[in-house]
Amino acid sequence: MRTQVGIIGAGPAGLLLARLLQARGVDCVVLEARDRAYVEGRIRAGLLEQGSVDTLTEAGVAERLHREGLAHDGLELRFEGENHRIDLAAITGKRVTIYGQQEVVKDLIAQRLADGLPLIFEAEGVAVHDIASTRPSITWRENGTARRLECDIIAGCDGFHGICRAAIPAADLTIFDRIYPFAWLGILAEAAPASHELIYARHADGFALATMRSESLSRMYVQCAPDEDLAQWSDARIWDALHRRLARTGLPSQVNEGRIIQKGVTAMRSFVAEPMRFGRLFLAGDAAHIVPPTGAKGMNLAIADVRILAAALAAFFAGRGEALMDDYSRLCLERIWKVQRFSWWMTQMLHRGDMNDGFEHRVQVAELRYLCGSDAARATLAENYVGLPYAM
Ligand code: APR
Ligand code: PHB
Repeated sequence: MRTQVGIIGAGPAGLLLARLLQARGVDCVVLEARDRAYVEGRIRAGLLEQGSVDTLTEAGVAERLHREGLAHDGLELRFEGENHRIDLAAITGKRVTIYGQQEVVKDLIAQRLADGLPLIFEAEGVAVHDIASTRPSITWRENGTARRLECDIIAGCDGFHGICRAAIPAADLTIFDRIYPFAWLGILAEAAPASHELIYARHADGFALATMRSESLSRMYVQCAPDEDLAQWSDARIWDALHRRLARTGLPSQVNEGRIIQKGVTAMRSFVAEPMRFGRLFLAGDAAHIVPPTGAKGMNLAIADVRILAAALAAFFAGRGEALMDDYSRLCLERIWKVQRFSWWMTQMLHRGDMNDGFEHRVQVAELRYLCGSDAARATLAENYVGLPYAM
């Protein structure tokens, strides 16, 4: 088989890249290690920046997103029993939209299959070859049969645990990594959301977040240990933690209990691999970087990367040279580091760290009070949260 771009990974990065390349007349094949049901069922974050919604809309894959997504004009910050609303729309003129990552993935898969374009699930033992040459290739096994795809370009969109980043010689990659001493225990529950907007809470017991997937489906998180044993968290203990951490002084709890239909632990990490290109292999999304989920940026960063990659590859195949491809990593990393900074900042402001000496508590509360009391600080939060402008 031969194609122009071999895309490894059918997450938001790989699938959206395929769609953006299709619109520019560039051929590609998408290879995914897991089966379709697994990819479509994987529960991840679910908040889209305004720019991400616009990108999906321009790509013609946002019909259901506009029907089912929940647009939010603000968010709530809760600490010391107080509630403070940040009016994102009034400050920035933009809003964010709640729509599960796996719904974005489902829409992109449905579109690609409806268009009759190649998307191969259950590709086993995917490997990349000759990435430093102008004729790289990908091999894998499909139902036990060995397959080979010759390409001009390989896009490594295979997530944090994929094989593409590892295919780059270690000496040609610089890794920046920070692992946090805490994680999130997340639940999906058949219950009306605590509020119609998201609530981010800082509490002496640890962070909590109340978000949602629909008017009747709540998604909630509580800070826990990185090696937390889920067996230690009965439903009653989870609800108790949510009631406590999201409490407002003198008011009854807004948290609505319901049947918990999914429970899981999300690790917290900041990670960047530089540069995001080696020869004809380009990394995009989680393959190149991870942010802690506090700023809700993972999927949005993946979308920002592939916007640039699609433009660079389209220019290359249109005979306009490699200048944009050469600039791909630099352009992406400019946004990535700003988003890393924001995600790290939100994380350290809202979580209980290792220290238990009262200093951290007071500094966090002072920061939150400053944030809620200053137009400039609120604007800083808001413009990062709704999404910084794109480089292209
Ligand atoms: N071969 C083929 N596919 C692979 C391989 C492999 N060796 N390894 C991993 N994959 C697939 C995974 O099964 C997954 O479907 O690559 C896909 C990567 O998708 P994501 O992990 O969703 O990463 P990305 O598309 O970059 O999206 C970033 O995902 O983890 C969240 O918070 C993150 O929201 C962000 C988003
Ligand atoms: C989610 O809805 O899952 C979500 C929202 C905001 C975050 C993280 C996760 O910061």
